[in-house]
Amino acid sequence: MTYDKKLIIGLFGFGVVGEGIYRVLKQTPTLQAEIKRICIKHPDKLRNAPAELFTTEADLLLNDPEINVVVELIDDAEAAWHIVSTSLGSGKAVVSANKKMIAAHLAELLQLQDENKTSFLYEAAVCGSIPVIRNLEEYYDNDMLNSVTGIINGSTNYILTRMNEDGMPYDEALKLAQQLGFAETDPSLDVEGTDAANKLTIILNHAYGIVSAPDDIMCKGITQLHPADSVYAKEKGYSIKLVARAHRVNHTDVAAYVLPTFVGPRSQLFNVRFEFNGVIIGTRLADEQFIYGKGAGRYPTSSAVLSDIAALRYGYKYEYKKLHTGVDYHISNDHVLRVYVSCENMSDVSQNDFIAIDETYNSQSRKYITGSINFDKLRKAAWLHNPANSVIVFGDSGTADSLPPESVL
Ligand SMILES: NC(=O)c1ccc[n+]([C@@H]2O[C@H](COP(=O)([O-])OP(=O)(O)OC[C@H]3O[C@@H](n4cnc5c(N)ncnc54)[C@H](OP(=O)(O)O)[C@@H]3O)[C@@H](O)[C@H]2O)c1
Repeated sequence: MTYDKKLIIGLFGFGVVGEGIYRVLKQTPTLQAEIKRICIKHPDKLRNAPAELFTTEADLLLNDPEINVVVELIDDAEAAWHIVSTSLGSGKAVVSANKKMIAAHLAELLQLQDENKTSFLYEAAVCGSIPVIRNLEEYYDNDMLNSVTGIINGSTNYILTRMNEDGMPYDEALKLAQQLGFAETDPSLDVEGTDAANKLTIILNHAYGIVSAPDDIMCKGITQLHPADSVYAKEKGYSIKLVARAHRVNHTDVAAYVLPTFVGPRSQLFNVRFEFNGVIIGTRLADEQFIYGKGAGRYPTSSAVLSDIAALRYGYKYEYKKLHTGVDYHISNDHVLRVYVSCENMSDVSQNDFIAIDETYNSQSRKYITGSINFDKLRKAAWLHNPANSVIVFGDSGTADSLPPESVL
């Protein structure tokens, strides 16, 4: 659908991002996009916008035939699903930033777009301001990518940077991330790695045509990291980052996980600090390319929302070309990772689970093991869930070099 008429917007949410896009649109008159009404949850909050714009009645927006674009920027995934599915069902174009809702309803959202032939854009849902989805959709649409590896959660990256560089305690760093508006309303989504798993679910769809659920992705956040891990990292010249990674292990199998990772200085991710995000796209034809920018915050996120709204002027839709390549990619758990596991007692980790052990270290305060392990064995290991143990992947595990030679030109 192309819009020769004005974009008449129904905006849901007036928080960090919702108020951001309201202000940005006011300063972008050339776009000819007008916010007709704003739906919020708490009517008594003070708002920096005319009172007559606000309502708590979602149906006033959803049933308004003049509203042709719904911009969904709320922090409630269930309510967001109702808003987005109803809007798409009635032929409205939708822009959303809600990675939790999108990852949870990916298959249904694909079907809704197919049935209603309307645009559903969500660049802000993955890495805030960085155009990851649009690049995967448009630029790498015919490249059978080797890998997508990134720091895709600004809040945990901010916390880890503060902890590693300033020695700030975890709780203080988390509070600061929340004050600065980088953290999700429910911060466990960030620190447990769930937010990154939601984003990786979306990335897997655009990079490999895999329609999965966040639960299909192994994910460990940063809550189990121990101060001794930072000491190890510093000694070896690494930085600890929460990294999301998808990489082809053969022609049809893709490894996918979110895990704390040792990143060395030769990696582009090494200098991705604070709330910044960075994504390395391992292409089959052009080697590695790196995109970097702010993954959260009012205006960086509004920038992606603005770009999606602007794209509606020419009826832009995702084509999901990787769904139609004829190659049936799926997530595989049968591959090998090099890991470091630190623990209080050596008996807390089953060394028999390892394919090979490179090093064991035993001091009074902390012990660690480094070695290779089958991913499926790691995923299922009971000791992985012991809160006293921490697991960190070596960032050089499973690089594109490990692909069988016939898959490289
Ligand atoms: N913050 C970021 O940097 C960032 C980055 C990328 C993506 N996102 C995503 O953007 C979305 C919004 O995040 P945010 O940080 O802007 O959240 P926020 O500051 O917590 O604001 C949430 C807004 O949603 C409204 N709301 C909640 N439930 C509602 C409902 N059922 N109906 C109508 N309005 C409702 C709230 O209303 P009241 O004002 O009345 O409470 C509030 O205005 C989330 O999906 C988030 O994951 C955020």
